[in-house]
Amino acid sequence: MDKNFYITTPIYYPSGKPHMGHAYSSIIADFFARFKLIDDYNVHFLTGTDEHGLKIQRSAEKAGQKPKEFCDQISQTFKDLSKTLNLSNTDFIRTTEDRHKKTVQHLWSLLEKNDDIYLSNYSGWYSVSDEAFYNDDEIEEIEGKKIAKSSKSTVEWIEEESYFFRLSKWQKPLLEFYKNNPDFILPESRKNEVISFVKSGLKDLSVSRKTFTWGIPVPNNDKHIIYVWLDALTNYLSALNYPDTNNELFKKFWPATIHLIGKDILRFHAVYWPAFLLAAKIELPKKVYGHGWILSGEEKMSKSKGNILDPLKIIKEYGLDPLRYYLVKEVSFGNDGNISQDRLEDCINSDLANNYGNLCQRVIAFAIKNCDGKIPAKIHFQSDDLKILNKFQENLDTIRSKIDEQNINFYIDFIVNSLFEANKYFNDQEPWKKKDNLIRLNTIVYTALEIVRKISFLLYPIIPETSLKALKIFNLSEKDIKLKTISNNEFIIKGNMINKIDILIKKIEKKDD
Ligand code: MSP
Repeated sequence: MDKNFYITTPIYYPSGKPHMGHAYSSIIADFFARFKLIDDYNVHFLTGTDEHGLKIQRSAEKAGQKPKEFCDQISQTFKDLSKTLNLSNTDFIRTTEDRHKKTVQHLWSLLEKNDDIYLSNYSGWYSVSDEAFYNDDEIEEIEGKKIAKSSKSTVEWIEEESYFFRLSKWQKPLLEFYKNNPDFILPESRKNEVISFVKSGLKDLSVSRKTFTWGIPVPNNDKHIIYVWLDALTNYLSALNYPDTNNELFKKFWPATIHLIGKDILRFHAVYWPAFLLAAKIELPKKVYGHGWILSGEEKMSKSKGNILDPLKIIKEYGLDPLRYYLVKEVSFGNDGNISQDRLEDCINSDLANNYGNLCQRVIAFAIKNCDGKIPAKIHFQSDDLKILNKFQENLDTIRSKIDEQNINFYIDFIVNSLFEANKYFNDQEPWKKKDNLIRLNTIVYTALEIVRKISFLLYPIIPETSLKALKIFNLSEKDIKLKTISNNEFIIKGNMINKIDILIKKIEKKDD
């Protein structure tokens, strides 16, 4: 069985400070990576920065800095953000690194050798903000300004000598590939958009620019700079040391399991990238998932629109795990979502503080008082106990397959329901009335503790720090978190001391309360 899992985020433009949209992609990728980690997969989780091209060159000029110097600084803020978000990424790639440049030039040479690249002249619309070429029918004019319909970014007319990639040649093979690999593009609605775009006819793609210098030169013609998207997409291979196909990383992790991206860059990942790979005869990634946007009001949050929300501010005010929980739960995965402070506070108070935090505290407080502070040893499960305990085992395979379908809603619903049922179980069983039947009292406490343990394991991919804090009750640490053990109803060690823990999540005083 394939127990290797390679997940990537988009590599972000270091043209300005990271915002909530970037944090969203990274946190969701981290959720999947951590889930696979606790399910005993070898995980390679890649993120990084996309540093070449006119967009970055212009941003650097604006800041009065050399592009490399500029990128060094801003790329560092993205690296710092990975730490702040507690990402479990195993690599952070920068496209200005030598390992990357080598791979890009190698891929170019392969495409050229296979007669998929030719020299000609380009004339057409270009958006520097999107680093994308647009056809006439993709442009509209608003207040005398030409803009791209899809992204609303300004376009400029360019005419210059350019190398072209024979994208048109790959139209049929791409359609064939989508047909044979129905899960390659998700979610379904986005897949249909891509397929109709490809069906409408693919034109050859300009893949070099001559009028600026900030990028990777075309091998044997350094007057041309390789198109920044051909450069950027290749990061997924350069991080595995391609073209050395015999090295462990490549052997284990290519083809990538999933490229997680925002829907704005689906065309690059679901059309251009597979076409480049088909042309280079490299195996295609298994899946591209285009998630929705974090909106600001009705609009996409983006630096160029100036409507950004700083993740660091939210983290400072509420803590990291509440933000992670909120983004995973409240932004229905695949759709657009808003960040509402009110909803965030509700999540903290009801789900995290009340349902999870209180469950942990009341069960351990009761055990400390009534079970000598130990995990009860003498227990005898009854059907009520087994009913709630066995749910985890019964759902384990479904949980796994839902995660492989990126159905985050199922996962979070399972957790929220389990928390609700666990609290209800403890109330209904009334262990405080069982002081004359110690085996029953012990069994209820043991069952409740087991549920806290199982739920904490499931919460680990979402709120790792808080889950680890809760698992201190049992002296468990990160290495002990194994998903498969949620099937085991007697995992926590009987007779061991229970550790008191601090409040897991502090309640927020709501302004309107
Ligand atoms: N550099 C390219 C990607 C190259 S990948 C080979 C790029 N960078 S970006 O900085 O603009 O970031 C793009 C990604 O950030 C989006 O695809 C998405 O994953 C995330 N987001 C940026 N703004 C976003 C929102 N407002 N909402 C959700 N995610 C968004 O494009």
